[in-house]
Amino acid sequence: MRKKVIAGNWKMNMLPNEAIEFITELTPKVARTQNEVILCVPYTDLFYALLTAQDTNIKIGAQNMHWEEKGAFTGEVSGKMLKCINVEYVIIGHSERRQYFGETDEFVNKKIKSAFINGLKPIVCVGETLEQREKGITKEIITNQVEKALEGLTNEQVQNTIIAYEPIWAIGTGKTATSEDANNSIKDIRAKIAEIYGKDVAEEVIIQYGGSVKSSNAKELFEMSDIDGALVGGASLKVDEFAKIVNYDE
Ligand code: PGA
Repeated sequence: MRKKVIAGNWKMNMLPNEAIEFITELTPKVARTQNEVILCVPYTDLFYALLTAQDTNIKIGAQNMHWEEKGAFTGEVSGKMLKCINVEYVIIGHSERRQYFGETDEFVNKKIKSAFINGLKPIVCVGETLEQREKGITKEIITNQVEKALEGLTNEQVQNTIIAYEPIWAIGTGKTATSEDANNSIKDIRAKIAEIYGKDVAEEVIIQYGGSVKSSNAKELFEMSDIDGALVGGASLKVDEFAKIVNYDE
């Protein structure tokens, strides 16, 4: 049985004092859950978030990293730097990074490999644009993104990769894919992983849905056969709303 993994993506929101307050309030609300709870916070919040989440079941992640260990890459942060302060997870290839910062499948692949070298667990985002969906090429786009992202990884690494299927047209728009559509796309991704890495690996991989997930639609999505949780943007900025998503099965 795969676990449900619910990860908040704060994007460029929350100052350190707000992060401390949020995590302090969230802690008792999610203390009993069996689901995995992750908050991916801005770099400047990481240290405070890690301290506040110590001895709780809330895990902390970053939202990006560079693939090199160190060097002349002004403004970048490496996987090694994240690991040394005890960050556990890192989002890689979010559509906003692909769209606004020119991140390619090749960068995504390098970053995932570097995340594993440094002992970080990657949350890898894939998803189609509205135009691609309307052209009927969603399956081709997302399975191709997954194949390129995972290229050259060992079976064990693939098994430990979290994939977030996030249709771009559903991010921050209030539009959610129907639970059937989301489940079918996730099944397509799982089938592609089975084809390359084998069925046993594919059955273990956590594949989340992302795109306007909120407490009112979480249960329906999470009860689908292949949806293993969510990457949550907007709704992860409100403590009660995020706690409700985590506790969808209570
Ligand atoms: P959203 O964002 O929940 O605000 O749509 C999801 C994401 O970008 O990961």
